[in-house]
Amino acid sequence: MSVIPPIDLTEQFRAIQSDVNAAVAEVLASGQYINGPAVATFAQAFGNYVGSEHCIVCNSGTDALYLALRALNIGPGDEVITSPFTFIATAEAISAAGATPVFVDIDPDTFNLDVAKLEAAIGDRTRAIMPVHLFGRPVDMGPVMDLAARYDLTVIEDCAQATGAKWMEQQVGRIGTIGCFSFFPTKNLGGCGDGGALTTNDDSLAATARMLQEHGSRIKYHHEAIGINSRLDSVQAAILAIKLRHLDTWNQQREQVAERYHRLLAPVNEVIRPLPVTFGRSVWNQYTLRLPQATADNQERNQVQQLMREAGVVCMVYYPLPLHLQPVYRHLGYQPGDLPQTEAVAHQVLSLPMFPELGEAAQLQVVQTLKNALTQVGLKAAQYC
Ligand SMILES: Cc1ncc(COP(=O)(O)O)c(C=O)c1O
Repeated sequence: MSVIPPIDLTEQFRAIQSDVNAAVAEVLASGQYINGPAVATFAQAFGNYVGSEHCIVCNSGTDALYLALRALNIGPGDEVITSPFTFIATAEAISAAGATPVFVDIDPDTFNLDVAKLEAAIGDRTRAIMPVHLFGRPVDMGPVMDLAARYDLTVIEDCAQATGAKWMEQQVGRIGTIGCFSFFPTKNLGGCGDGGALTTNDDSLAATARMLQEHGSRIKYHHEAIGINSRLDSVQAAILAIKLRHLDTWNQQREQVAERYHRLLAPVNEVIRPLPVTFGRSVWNQYTLRLPQATADNQERNQVQQLMREAGVVCMVYYPLPLHLQPVYRHLGYQPGDLPQTEAVAHQVLSLPMFPELGEAAQLQVVQTLKNALTQVGLKAAQYC
């Protein structure tokens, strides 16, 4: 039985293998493994792609978020508003900087922050809003930027899952004060290891972020702050520079995969398909459905996932437990029921295999397998919270 994985990185590598091998060999021969010319070249190219004046490349998307917060001098006593429906790294960076995440419920139709609920969460200690463009889908940044201007807040975009996405005509990552990106291998622009970047048009923030990523140092062996060591390896930079040239094509292919799913799933009444974006462009890092919720903990969704796995189609659940209910955030005092849309969606979501090279035959198999599993489990088009 051939297995359809959630993402297959090998096919993409085969397509660019000779270029990658040559670029890696060049870096290895150069001996400049840290902060070499490959790093500067990629940082410049990525900054140009996003349309930002400065691009600081670093070790991961998590570090990019952390460096952004530290560069903004956000720390103990400060609050940062963000989504509870995201990877832990978003909130973890806020906590690592010493600040407190404040979670606002999501819009179940987009999986992103419900911008209508943002204002009520702003208080005396709020310093920033950190919208997450989840699954490749842009947050509606208009209301976010309006509120930020009205309350004098900074906006840090978490673009980890959305490289190439657009809000209106603008690339995400250049709308707020700082944009943070991840080059984790499964991202739209993924390296062959960890990597990240932050983008900004602010000269002073860029200089501070650079200082912080180099052990708090602007001049070698002179340290003005406690920083971290967070650099992108030259080898990764060289690989990412090659992959960046293909990013738009790969994102277009993802759009085609999403369109095919949309069409193939139209007759499957039991599921809610992701809505088209009306104010920009999604780059479909994930194609995530909502399944009916028959019981409070929706074991049926998990059964569907398990049956599909047994039939050779591996789907993922991003994310089964919202951040406000994670053990690590118990001290913040959130209770089940506080963010009802997020909590409901966490029981309903199922992400289908999604990668640029996924073909129609495989997608037909995914959809047929899903239909069989839904029938077996007995989930019917029913109530969604
Ligand atoms: C929304 C979001 N933010 C931040 C990160 C952190 O990125 P990295 O894994 O490169 O540290 C991720 C990675 O999965 C993510 O999905």
